[in-house]
Amino acid sequence: MKTILVTGGSGFIGTNFVKYVMTHYPQWNILNLDALTYAGNPENHRELSDDPRYTFVHGDILDAGLLKKLFDAHRFDGVFHFAAESHVDRSITGPEVFLNTNIMGTFKLLEASLSHFRKNKPADFRFLHVSTDEVYGSLGFEDPAFREDTPYDPSSPYSASKASSDHFAKAYFKTYGLPVVVTNCSNNYGPYQFPEKLIPLVILNILDKKPLPVYGKGENIRDWLYVADHCEALAKVFEKGTAGETYNIGGGEEKNNLEVVQTLCDLVDQKTGKNGTSRDLITFVADRPGHDIRYAINSDKTRDEIGFTARYSFEQALSDTIDWYLENLDWVRSIQTGEYRQWIEKQYGR
Ligand code: NAD
Ligand code: TYD
Repeated sequence: MKTILVTGGSGFIGTNFVKYVMTHYPQWNILNLDALTYAGNPENHRELSDDPRYTFVHGDILDAGLLKKLFDAHRFDGVFHFAAESHVDRSITGPEVFLNTNIMGTFKLLEASLSHFRKNKPADFRFLHVSTDEVYGSLGFEDPAFREDTPYDPSSPYSASKASSDHFAKAYFKTYGLPVVVTNCSNNYGPYQFPEKLIPLVILNILDKKPLPVYGKGENIRDWLYVADHCEALAKVFEKGTAGETYNIGGGEEKNNLEVVQTLCDLVDQKTGKNGTSRDLITFVADRPGHDIRYAINSDKTRDEIGFTARYSFEQALSDTIDWYLENLDWVRSIQTGEYRQWIEKQYGR
């Protein structure tokens, strides 16, 4: 058996990853360390409360004392580091917490991992640092997709903080020999995504007959990756990736935001018998400052070295995602707390 530390395992991707591992990797035990910010929900793993393979610790990656205790007690075989502040718009209105969690938090985790790695010499140890394609900056419509050697050029406080944490993770490999792998993935979607992000926000606004806010002209392009594909890729990179290397993970599904919102309208209308009226809710609003025009991922290295290619088509996985939200409205309502309402009011109330 291996014991792995998952940070941020109660957020969107972390939740899906914990469930993926519990099903597909019966030889792995998980310790999920999560501070339960607004984006983390311990209820996501209620079904695991009596499972001996799963342990939840409510705590902060900035707490070096706690990290030391956990590494001493569990002697982890690897780390999957998801914990972060992850929303670009929030980083624009309040950047400081992004520096604290994403940069300092990653640094504390690297320090604790290195100290454990040196002391206990765990075989095949990997520190998998989960990052984003946003560190590469913005592409023109005709530019070739991001490769692992594309220079970093982040635009937002969020992507700048992730870029910094990527550099620290790589530096801990180069300087101290900690076996780090970095993954840079594109925009994820799927179950359990917090409805501040485009896809769940639009699904829920359609259901509530609220305006569907499209920034600028809606022409910005993202490469959409279904979260189940991302989870499979992460586990494979952990097993097969070369220490010190970066692997890009993309869905190969480039869409502009207006297309995404229109597709959501049509699918939700079909599923709820609304007869094509939801597109009327589309509302063009002020653009995001520093809004990157296009992201696109070249995943050839991950395909060739890791043997991973995304399986899910955008249309099918988007339809499944809508079904999940329709079937889990209790989950949605439970996270639409005071904090959520305040954010929506602050961001869209104008
Ligand atoms: P999320 O915001 O849904 O979840 C983040 C989780 O981290 C939450 O459970 C939160 O409680 C926890 N957390 C925050 N600060 C913490 C701290 N100081 N200590 C411990 N836990 C803390 O994020 P997500 O969308 O699941 O993203 C996970 C990772 O993937 C992030 O590192 C993000 O940068 C990266 N990523 C996300 C996407 C995407 O499309 N969502 C794309 C590329 C990369
Ligand atoms: P988002 O889901 O916030 O992810 P990211 O900023 O990490 O790409 O946004 C996806 C795209 O959708 C991005 O181009 C911004 C745009 N967007 C809107 O047009 N309206 C919205 O209300 C939101 C949240 C995002």
